[in-house]
Amino acid sequence: MRVVFLGPPGAGKGTQARRLSQLLGVPHISTGEMLRAAITQGTALGQTVRQYVEAGKLVPDVLMQELVRQRLSEPDAANGFVLDGYPRNVQQAQTLDEILGELGTRLDRAVLLDLDPDLLVERLSGRLVCPVCGANYHRRFNPPKHDSVCDRDGATLVQRADDRPGTVRARLEEYTKQMAPVTDYYRQRGLLAVVDASGTIDQVWRGLLRVLGLAEQAENVIEEG
Ligand code: AP5
Repeated sequence: MRVVFLGPPGAGKGTQARRLSQLLGVPHISTGEMLRAAITQGTALGQTVRQYVEAGKLVPDVLMQELVRQRLSEPDAANGFVLDGYPRNVQQAQTLDEILGELGTRLDRAVLLDLDPDLLVERLSGRLVCPVCGANYHRRFNPPKHDSVCDRDGATLVQRADDRPGTVRARLEEYTKQMAPVTDYYRQRGLLAVVDASGTIDQVWRGLLRVLGLAEQAENVIEEG
């Protein structure tokens, strides 16, 4: 299955996309994580995009296009992927269709995680991430077992540079400006699936499985496990 995740910052795209990729056995491709890794490693791309990411602005389409083209061409994405953070405007949606066309395939679903803006700020301000493995926590809604320590590798958890209040506002503004035409783009093509993202992580997960027709498959995995 080839799926993209749409939705405002903090809606839970990364949280749900990671679960879905595990269930389907396909890679979770997060453009935000790829950009943050490039920034941390100090690559040429990282140095160019840093100013955009830390200001909550969109990175120019031309840079994103190459990043996504290369990643989707890798062998592990040949049988499917969960793409999180791309596309973010209609130009990117069209580019994605072109890239998939070149690869001889097409998108199956675009999932929109829908959430009241008031809840987003609460989710983002409490988010903690592991700088080593990228695991995602929330101080209140999804806390680590030990305070500020990653359950997987014991690293000290940090706040993302773009989760500061001023940057969060800028990210929400960017999203509001760009996203409605993208959801229309997928709705017109019959690909859009909307999931109410206001419940708990498990409730949103169940809603996601329902709209993707995967509830039965997930039950079998739980039983086998
Ligand atoms: P990106 O990393 O994609 O960030 P984003 O879209 O702003 O989304 P987030 O990662 O902040 O939130 P999320 O929806 O994944 O929520 P999460 O699961 O973490 O992009 C960052 C930047 O990179 C952009 O601003 C831009 O500069 C650049 N960029 C990236 N892609 C680009 C592109 N295509 N074009 C141009 N520029 C691009 O959840 C949030 C928190 O809530 C967590 O703490 C989590 O534990 C908690 N949580 C999750 N679900 C629930 C729930 N149901 N109940 C309670 N808490 C929950």
